[in-house]
Amino acid sequence: MNYFLTFLRMGYDKKSHWENVFSNKNLTDVSWFQEVPITSLTFIRSLNLPKTAQIIDVGGGDSYLVDYLLKDGFEHITVLDISEKALEKAKERLGESANKIEWIVSDITEYQDSSKKYDVWHDRAAFHFLVENGQIETYLSIAKTNIKNEGFLSVGTFSEQGPTKCSGLEVKQYSEESMTDKFKENFEKIRCINENHETPFKTVQNFTFCTFQRK
Ligand SMILES: C[S@@+](CC[C@H](N)C(=O)[O-])C[C@H]1O[C@@H](n2cnc3c(N)ncnc32)[C@H](O)[C@@H]1O
Repeated sequence: MNYFLTFLRMGYDKKSHWENVFSNKNLTDVSWFQEVPITSLTFIRSLNLPKTAQIIDVGGGDSYLVDYLLKDGFEHITVLDISEKALEKAKERLGESANKIEWIVSDITEYQDSSKKYDVWHDRAAFHFLVENGQIETYLSIAKTNIKNEGFLSVGTFSEQGPTKCSGLEVKQYSEESMTDKFKENFEKIRCINENHETPFKTVQNFTFCTFQRK
Protein backbone atom coordinates (compact mmCIF):
# COMPACT_ATOMS: atom_id res chain seq x y z
CA MET A 1 0.00 0.00 0.00
CA ASN A 2 2.83 2.39 0.92
CA TYR A 3 4.57 1.53 -2.34
CA PHE A 4 1.35 2.25 -4.22
CA LEU A 5 0.98 5.70 -2.57
CA THR A 6 4.62 6.55 -3.30
CA PHE A 7 4.07 5.41 -6.87
CA LEU A 8 1.09 7.76 -7.21
CA ARG A 9 2.98 10.68 -5.69
CA MET A 10 6.31 10.29 -7.47
CA GLY A 11 5.61 8.27 -10.58
CA TYR A 12 6.99 4.79 -10.93
CA ASP A 13 10.36 3.91 -9.49
CA LYS A 14 12.31 2.27 -12.29
CA LYS A 15 14.76 0.46 -10.07
CA SER A 16 12.08 -1.06 -7.81
CA HIS A 17 10.16 -2.18 -10.87
CA TRP A 18 13.13 -4.12 -12.24
CA GLU A 19 14.28 -5.51 -8.88
CA ASN A 20 10.76 -6.81 -8.46
CA VAL A 21 10.70 -8.40 -11.94
CA PHE A 22 14.00 -10.20 -11.46
CA SER A 23 13.13 -11.29 -7.91
CA ASN A 24 9.84 -12.83 -8.97
CA LYS A 25 10.35 -14.22 -12.45
CA ASN A 26 12.56 -16.92 -13.86
CA LEU A 27 14.75 -16.30 -16.88
CA THR A 28 12.39 -18.19 -19.17
CA ASP A 29 9.23 -16.54 -17.78
CA VAL A 30 9.88 -13.13 -19.34
CA SER A 31 8.85 -12.09 -22.83
CA TRP A 32 12.39 -11.02 -23.84
CA PHE A 33 14.02 -14.39 -23.10
CA GLN A 34 16.22 -15.81 -25.87
CA GLU A 35 17.91 -19.18 -25.70
CA VAL A 36 20.53 -17.89 -28.14
CA PRO A 37 20.82 -14.12 -28.74
CA ILE A 38 21.62 -14.81 -32.36
CA THR A 39 21.17 -11.34 -33.88
CA SER A 40 23.40 -9.73 -31.27
CA LEU A 41 26.03 -12.46 -31.57
CA THR A 42 26.04 -12.40 -35.35
CA PHE A 43 26.64 -8.67 -35.29
CA ILE A 44 29.45 -8.84 -32.74
CA ARG A 45 31.10 -11.80 -34.48
CA SER A 46 30.90 -10.02 -37.84
CA LEU A 47 33.21 -7.30 -36.52
CA ASN A 48 36.15 -9.73 -36.21
CA LEU A 49 37.42 -7.87 -33.18
CA PRO A 50 40.44 -8.97 -31.17
CA LYS A 51 39.54 -10.89 -28.01
CA THR A 52 40.85 -7.93 -26.02
CA ALA A 53 38.02 -5.68 -27.30
CA GLN A 54 36.02 -3.84 -24.64
CA ILE A 55 32.36 -4.89 -24.92
CA ILE A 56 29.47 -3.61 -22.82
CA ASP A 57 25.95 -5.02 -22.67
CA VAL A 58 23.75 -2.16 -21.47
CA GLY A 59 20.60 -3.37 -19.72
CA GLY A 60 21.97 -6.87 -20.16
CA GLY A 61 19.92 -8.22 -17.25
CA ASP A 62 20.46 -11.96 -16.83
CA SER A 63 20.52 -12.65 -20.57
CA TYR A 64 22.77 -15.31 -22.11
CA LEU A 65 24.74 -12.89 -24.29
CA VAL A 66 27.55 -12.70 -21.76
CA ASP A 67 27.81 -16.52 -21.63
CA TYR A 68 28.31 -16.68 -25.41
CA LEU A 69 30.79 -13.82 -25.45
CA LEU A 70 32.83 -15.63 -22.81
CA LYS A 71 32.71 -18.83 -24.89
CA ASP A 72 33.91 -16.80 -27.88
CA GLY A 73 36.95 -15.88 -25.79
CA PHE A 74 36.31 -12.17 -25.18
CA GLU A 75 38.36 -11.01 -22.22
CA HIS A 76 36.88 -7.60 -21.41
CA ILE A 77 33.12 -7.85 -21.05
CA THR A 78 31.02 -5.50 -18.95
CA VAL A 79 27.35 -5.98 -18.11
CA LEU A 80 25.47 -2.95 -16.81
CA ASP A 81 21.94 -3.07 -15.45
CA ILE A 82 19.69 -1.04 -13.19
CA SER A 83 18.77 -4.25 -11.35
CA GLU A 84 21.22 -5.74 -8.88
CA LYS A 85 19.09 -8.87 -8.69
CA ALA A 86 19.38 -9.41 -12.47
CA LEU A 87 23.16 -9.30 -12.28
CA GLU A 88 23.22 -11.56 -9.20
CA LYS A 89 21.25 -14.15 -11.15
CA ALA A 90 23.64 -13.97 -14.11
CA LYS A 91 26.64 -14.26 -11.76
CA GLU A 92 25.15 -17.27 -10.02
CA ARG A 93 24.58 -19.01 -13.35
CA LEU A 94 28.12 -18.31 -14.54
CA GLY A 95 29.83 -19.46 -11.32
CA GLU A 96 33.61 -18.94 -11.39
CA SER A 97 33.47 -17.37 -14.85
CA ALA A 98 31.52 -14.45 -13.40
CA ASN A 99 34.82 -13.17 -12.01
CA LYS A 100 35.98 -12.46 -15.55
CA ILE A 101 33.14 -9.96 -16.07
CA GLU A 102 32.81 -6.38 -14.87
CA TRP A 103 29.33 -5.99 -13.37
CA ILE A 104 27.89 -2.50 -12.98
CA VAL A 105 24.63 -1.73 -11.19
CA SER A 106 23.45 1.60 -12.53
CA ASP A 107 20.65 3.36 -14.32
CA ILE A 108 22.36 3.97 -17.67
CA THR A 109 21.11 7.56 -17.67
CA GLU A 110 23.02 8.13 -14.41
CA TYR A 111 26.22 6.37 -15.43
CA GLN A 112 29.10 8.78 -15.05
CA ASP A 113 32.32 6.82 -15.30
CA SER A 114 33.98 7.78 -18.57
CA SER A 115 37.36 6.22 -17.71
CA LYS A 116 36.70 3.17 -19.89
CA LYS A 117 35.84 3.48 -23.58
CA TYR A 118 34.13 0.64 -25.38
CA ASP A 119 34.70 -0.96 -28.79
CA VAL A 120 31.16 -2.38 -28.72
CA TRP A 121 28.08 -1.05 -26.94
CA HIS A 122 25.15 -3.48 -27.12
CA ASP A 123 21.62 -2.69 -25.97
CA ARG A 124 18.68 -5.01 -26.59
CA ALA A 125 15.40 -3.74 -25.20
CA ALA A 126 16.71 -1.27 -22.61
CA PHE A 127 16.99 1.96 -24.65
CA HIS A 128 13.30 1.75 -25.63
CA PHE A 129 12.23 2.31 -21.99
CA LEU A 130 13.50 5.88 -22.26
CA VAL A 131 10.42 7.77 -23.33
CA GLU A 132 11.24 11.35 -22.37
CA ASN A 133 13.44 13.49 -24.61
CA GLY A 134 15.70 14.50 -21.73
CA GLN A 135 16.44 10.86 -20.84
CA ILE A 136 17.07 9.97 -24.47
CA GLU A 137 19.47 12.90 -24.92
CA THR A 138 21.32 11.84 -21.76
CA TYR A 139 21.65 8.28 -23.08
CA LEU A 140 22.98 9.54 -26.44
CA SER A 141 25.52 11.73 -24.70
CA ILE A 142 26.70 8.88 -22.42
CA ALA A 143 26.99 6.54 -25.43
CA LYS A 144 28.98 9.16 -27.32
CA THR A 145 31.35 9.67 -24.38
CA ASN A 146 31.87 6.00 -23.64
CA ILE A 147 32.24 4.54 -27.13
CA LYS A 148 35.65 4.79 -28.80
CA ASN A 149 36.01 6.68 -32.04
CA GLU A 150 35.06 4.18 -34.76
CA GLY A 151 33.63 1.89 -32.06
CA PHE A 152 30.31 0.12 -32.63
CA LEU A 153 26.82 0.49 -31.23
CA SER A 154 24.06 -2.09 -31.62
CA VAL A 155 20.58 -1.15 -30.43
CA GLY A 156 17.43 -3.28 -30.54
CA THR A 157 14.02 -1.81 -29.72
CA PHE A 158 10.42 -2.63 -30.48
CA SER A 159 9.52 -1.49 -33.99
CA GLU A 160 6.46 0.52 -34.96
CA GLN A 161 4.80 -2.86 -35.61
CA GLY A 162 5.86 -4.12 -32.19
CA PRO A 163 4.19 -3.84 -28.79
CA THR A 164 3.72 -0.47 -27.11
CA LYS A 165 4.63 -1.87 -23.69
CA CYS A 166 7.31 -4.15 -22.33
CA SER A 167 7.23 -5.58 -18.80
CA GLY A 168 4.13 -3.44 -18.22
CA LEU A 169 6.01 -0.20 -18.96
CA GLU A 170 5.51 2.20 -21.87
CA VAL A 171 8.22 1.98 -24.51
CA LYS A 172 9.24 4.16 -27.41
CA GLN A 173 9.04 2.31 -30.70
CA TYR A 174 11.58 2.96 -33.46
CA SER A 175 11.63 2.42 -37.20
CA GLU A 176 14.91 2.23 -39.12
CA GLU A 177 14.45 5.91 -40.01
CA SER A 178 13.61 7.21 -36.55
CA MET A 179 16.43 5.28 -34.90
CA THR A 180 18.97 6.40 -37.49
CA ASP A 181 17.77 9.96 -37.04
CA LYS A 182 18.15 9.73 -33.24
CA PHE A 183 21.78 8.59 -33.43
CA LYS A 184 22.90 10.43 -36.57
CA GLU A 185 24.77 13.28 -34.91
CA ASN A 186 27.56 11.05 -33.66
CA PHE A 187 26.96 7.67 -35.27
CA GLU A 188 26.98 6.44 -38.87
CA LYS A 189 24.43 3.74 -39.68
CA ILE A 190 25.90 0.44 -40.83
CA ARG A 191 22.65 -1.47 -41.22
CA CYS A 192 19.21 -2.02 -39.71
CA ILE A 193 16.95 -5.04 -39.75
CA ASN A 194 13.46 -5.79 -38.57
CA GLU A 195 12.95 -9.16 -37.00
CA ASN A 196 10.32 -11.06 -35.11
CA HIS A 197 11.13 -12.33 -31.66
CA GLU A 198 9.01 -15.26 -30.52
CA THR A 199 8.39 -14.96 -26.78
CA PRO A 200 8.29 -18.02 -24.47
CA PHE A 201 4.49 -17.60 -24.56
CA LYS A 202 4.51 -17.99 -28.39
CA THR A 203 3.54 -14.39 -29.09
CA VAL A 204 5.55 -12.38 -31.61
CA GLN A 205 7.28 -9.05 -31.05
CA ASN A 206 8.71 -7.11 -33.97
CA PHE A 207 12.09 -5.47 -33.28
CA THR A 208 14.17 -2.86 -35.08
CA PHE A 209 17.86 -3.67 -34.67
CA CYS A 210 20.35 -1.09 -35.92
CA THR A 211 24.10 -1.06 -35.85
CA PHE A 212 26.13 2.12 -36.02
CA GLN A 213 29.75 3.22 -35.99
CA ARG A 214 30.96 6.14 -33.88
CA LYS A 215 32.04 9.02 -36.10
C1 LIG B 1 13.46 -6.17 -21.54
S1 LIG B 1 14.84 -6.46 -20.51
C2 LIG B 1 16.08 -6.95 -21.70
C3 LIG B 1 17.23 -7.69 -21.06
C4 LIG B 1 18.34 -8.13 -22.04
N1 LIG B 1 18.95 -7.00 -22.71
C5 LIG B 1 17.83 -9.12 -23.04
O1 LIG B 1 17.81 -8.80 -24.24
O2 LIG B 1 17.48 -10.23 -22.62
C6 LIG B 1 15.34 -4.81 -20.11
C7 LIG B 1 16.57 -4.74 -19.23
O3 LIG B 1 16.99 -3.40 -19.13
C8 LIG B 1 17.23 -3.07 -17.78
N2 LIG B 1 16.97 -1.63 -17.67
C9 LIG B 1 15.79 -0.98 -17.83
N3 LIG B 1 15.95 0.34 -17.70
C10 LIG B 1 17.28 0.54 -17.46
C11 LIG B 1 18.08 1.70 -17.24
N4 LIG B 1 17.54 2.93 -17.24
N5 LIG B 1 19.41 1.53 -17.02
C12 LIG B 1 19.96 0.29 -17.01
N6 LIG B 1 19.25 -0.84 -17.21
C13 LIG B 1 17.93 -0.71 -17.44
C14 LIG B 1 16.27 -3.96 -17.00
O4 LIG B 1 16.64 -4.15 -15.66
C15 LIG B 1 16.32 -5.23 -17.83
O5 LIG B 1 17.38 -6.06 -17.43
